Amino acid sequence: MISNQQDPTWWQNAVGYQIYPKSFYDSNNDGIGDLPGIIEKIPYIKSLGVNFVWLSPFFASPNVDNGYDVSDYEDIDPQYGTLDDTFKMIKQFHQNDIRVVFDLVINYTSDQHHWFQEAQKSVDNPYHDFYIWRKPVAGKVPNNWVSLFGGSAWTYNAATDEYYYHLFAKQQPDLNWENPKVHQAVKQIIDWWAEHGVDGFRLDAISHLKKNQSFADVQDQEAAMNNVFGIEKFLDELSTDFKRNHLMTVGEAGGVPVTRAREWVNTKTGYFDMIFQFDHVSFWEKFTVGKIDVAMLRKTLTNWQNGLEGIGWNTLFLENHDLPRAVSYFGNDGDMRQQSATALAMMYFLMKGTPFIYQGQELGMTNVSFDNIDQYRDLDSKRFYQEELAKGATKAETLFKLQKKSRDNARTPMQWTSTGGFSNHQPWIEMNPNHQTINVKNEQADSNSVLSFYKRLTTLRLSDPVLLAGKYQLIDTHDHQLYVYTRESARKGYLIITNLSDTPAAYQVTSDFQNLELVLTNRSAEQNPTAMKLQPWSAYLYKYERK
Ligand code: GLC
Ligand code: CA
Repeated sequence: MISNQQDPTWWQNAVGYQIYPKSFYDSNNDGIGDLPGIIEKIPYIKSLGVNFVWLSPFFASPNVDNGYDVSDYEDIDPQYGTLDDTFKMIKQFHQNDIRVVFDLVINYTSDQHHWFQEAQKSVDNPYHDFYIWRKPVAGKVPNNWVSLFGGSAWTYNAATDEYYYHLFAKQQPDLNWENPKVHQAVKQIIDWWAEHGVDGFRLDAISHLKKNQSFADVQDQEAAMNNVFGIEKFLDELSTDFKRNHLMTVGEAGGVPVTRAREWVNTKTGYFDMIFQFDHVSFWEKFTVGKIDVAMLRKTLTNWQNGLEGIGWNTLFLENHDLPRAVSYFGNDGDMRQQSATALAMMYFLMKGTPFIYQGQELGMTNVSFDNIDQYRDLDSKRFYQEELAKGATKAETLFKLQKKSRDNARTPMQWTSTGGFSNHQPWIEMNPNHQTINVKNEQADSNSVLSFYKRLTTLRLSDPVLLAGKYQLIDTHDHQLYVYTRESARKGYLIITNLSDTPAAYQVTSDFQNLELVLTNRSAEQNPTAMKLQPWSAYLYKYERK
């Protein structure tokens, strides 16, 4: 029986699996993944060994931003199913000892939400103050604040002769958290889902809740809307709702430095159990081409590991629905796909924190090489394409950037079989043609597959307390190839050695490490630890005792 009250830190000894419902499994063959489809695939999720799922939004929504624009938090978008399906899904996950985390999008609503429908009518409307309004300045937008989806963050509303603020699309007006009634309304939503069995929330765009109340022009856009001083008050109020309901929380908090994160996820006084930070995936360099340097990766991840040690808990991830596929971005998705997907997996999965796997990552799914803008669905990718062309860029170079970084790379349907296996209908977004070889069925039958490797990692991760609580320590190789670290407690530990490059490297395990025992590798050959010859994208995990 799942009891979050009796086991309040269950999420520390857990592996999470992120589901993007629209692309997971289509049960009724309309081309769109759905909740009954997720229910059907619970045995698969269970077979991974994970113990909780995080589902991207499937609530009532006009889907301007694929459900991150919610028009009713207590209803379900009919393309995904019904409320009954949702309750059934929660129940069936629980029966399988898998906890369920929903995505709570409370920095903004859809413009179709009844709060906004009311709010825009008049300045006297009781909901008006649920949103952020400013009068025009000299007949124009109130300030220079921009939307993360391009253009001004302000849209004019004729009925009140005001502009409203939206950090993302104009159909996603931001809520005004300065108004205590907003918190009251959101509190009810939290309580309602908790009553219906939800075990936790991923808090979407949560570092943006507070806006700079000067509403003055800014030089650095972050000063207007990210991690603005005073946000702590809102987060603290919200955290009481989560704690009262024994909910696990993970905040999406890009750009919050580790020094602030120490407050945010402090085990005693923090607002959330964990946050997602994005330093290691260069989230902010949208649509830039180029690989992350291994030295940089070591530096950023070590900064977070050390920064939260003894204070709070990290999330561990390489992919989500907003990022390109890890094997394409960090790895080599050509002839080294299997090796690079597994080396990357070992690198991040055994650090201190809670690992997340994004659907398809466990297969080593790759970026999709769409060569026509009409194949894309993501509004931000389409917006980028138009803007670049208007600036004089060529179609070819712009499509090349999208092939590297578009969020649609992560959103193509899950690859179940060699014929696709997602739906009998044309899917809402094309499948990656490589499903003929990269798919669940093939990988289940192959003990060397990426899938088999993830299963081994998950089992291992959950089986040894050293991997739960042992301290992380980087062994700095000062190069651009290797990532080597240990997890250790009471002189026992694990040594993780990965070559994250396309060229061979040498490595010597020093004599401090005794009784080395090879636990897992993505290569067939054993090595002499004191004179290792690391093939490209090879990964070795040793158990050791300290001298
Ligand atoms: C969050 C979501 C992303 C969405 C954005 C705006 O960052 O993860 O998918 O586009 O919010 O709604
Ligand atoms: Ca469907």
